[in-house]
Amino acid sequence: MLEEFLYLLAIFFILIVFGTMAVAGFRGAPWVPTKKKDLDRLIKLADIQEGDTIYELGSGDGRILFEIAKRYRVDAIGVEISLLPYLYSKTKLWLMNTIFVQKMKGKVSIVYRDMFQQKLESADIVICFLLPKVIRELEKKFSKELKKNAKVVSYVFPLELHNALAVDKPEKSNISIFLYRF
Ligand SMILES: C[S@@+](CC[C@H](N)C(=O)[O-])C[C@H]1O[C@@H](n2cnc3c(N)ncnc32)[C@H](O)[C@@H]1O
Repeated sequence: MLEEFLYLLAIFFILIVFGTMAVAGFRGAPWVPTKKKDLDRLIKLADIQEGDTIYELGSGDGRILFEIAKRYRVDAIGVEISLLPYLYSKTKLWLMNTIFVQKMKGKVSIVYRDMFQQKLESADIVICFLLPKVIRELEKKFSKELKKNAKVVSYVFPLELHNALAVDKPEKSNISIFLYRF
């Protein structure tokens, strides 16, 4: 009886994990992390100021948020809909705050939410690495909700309706990172 229950529980968990992954792939982009070697370029381009509120839409394993919070006294909020990266990043955050006690200047929080449900009025910077079809939809949300002078940093794919303030691509082989100001 217990064996059957555990078996069903395992199947249920696997279905939820793959189900939310499929939703994420459809609603935004599959989980493909930003390359570690590009983190410096991305963070530099964002021109982060102390006290900024930063949202990452589709925060994956949280690597960008953790790196930012190590360097700046900011509020860094990740929004993630896929269960596996969400649980992974939450566990990492918990471990960093409790067992390994990594000194972070900023505060990281990660919420389980569809990015389209996330209010962005308080954002100074929004970071994303999403597919063009979703960026197209998000751009309308940015125009409606972002305050004047808020920045958007998009890894790999550009926005369609706005002109980039800067594009970081030091060499031909590098991935492009786009900066926008609203
Ligand atoms: C290409 S990955 C980027 C991950 C992370 N930002 C990074 O750069 O390492 C896109 C992420 O967006 C998440 N995602 C896709 N659609 C989403 C949605 N509608 N709401 C929240 N997160 C979403 C995926 O689960 C995935 O983790």
